Amino acid sequence: MKVPASLVDVTSPPRPNLVHDDNLDDVLAEAFRLFARGVADRRSAFRTPSIATIGPDNTPHIRTMVLRQFDPTTRRLLLHTDRRAGKLADLANVPRAAVHVYDARAALQVRLSAHVRVHTDDPVAQAAWAHGAAASHVCYAINPPPGTAVQAPPPAATDQDAGFANFAVLALTFNTLEWLWLYHGGHRRARFVWTAEAPPQATWLVP
Ligand SMILES: Cc1cc2nc3c(=O)[nH]c(=O)nc-3n(C[C@H](O)[C@H](O)[C@H](O)COP(=O)(O)O)c2cc1C
Repeated sequence: MKVPASLVDVTSPPRPNLVHDDNLDDVLAEAFRLFARGVADRRSAFRTPSIATIGPDNTPHIRTMVLRQFDPTTRRLLLHTDRRAGKLADLANVPRAAVHVYDARAALQVRLSAHVRVHTDDPVAQAAWAHGAAASHVCYAINPPPGTAVQAPPPAATDQDAGFANFAVLALTFNTLEWLWLYHGGHRRARFVWTAEAPPQATWLVP
């Protein structure tokens, strides 16, 4: 695979081998560590993955979202959104999402394919709402709904409680993870596929 020169600093010396250089178990552990870090570290590229869905018109739609929780045991990512948003119509059509992260500092791309479950007004949504900040809560009280065409930017909402009716948690459980690390010593690309309660099928891929 030819990587644009702008993405790789070819003038810098090769970096020392990292632990995830040539061991698939270590690659997966590092990928999981990075998603966990994304929840905790606002500066991490894994904090704001791109989430792609398929619309009712069969076209792809993609947007940035904040990663709120990650459970490595269940391979579940939690995201917060407004149930009136366009992505909910997409997910009603096809309850799947692709997740993309590019970490420029690490020269690393990770892609996931996930099944999505939407939680509204249930214990998952209630727990997420309870842990959310007031500044986030007001966003869900905006009217008219997100994506509505308006004559001028609407004023910010102020009600901290009314938004719960519009609040949704997206639970993404991924069954495929693909890793691409741009590395002077030879790029590393790997794929992990979970089919049952067994360890994932893991393989290197030609970059
Ligand atoms: C840095 C950043 C973080 C964002 N986080 C979220 C988020 O956590 N949830 C969300 O619904 N939208 C988030 N957005 C807005 C979405 O990218 C998108 O514009 C919005 O959700 C509408 O998408 P949709 O019409 O496809 O549903 C974020 C945007 C940016 C730039």
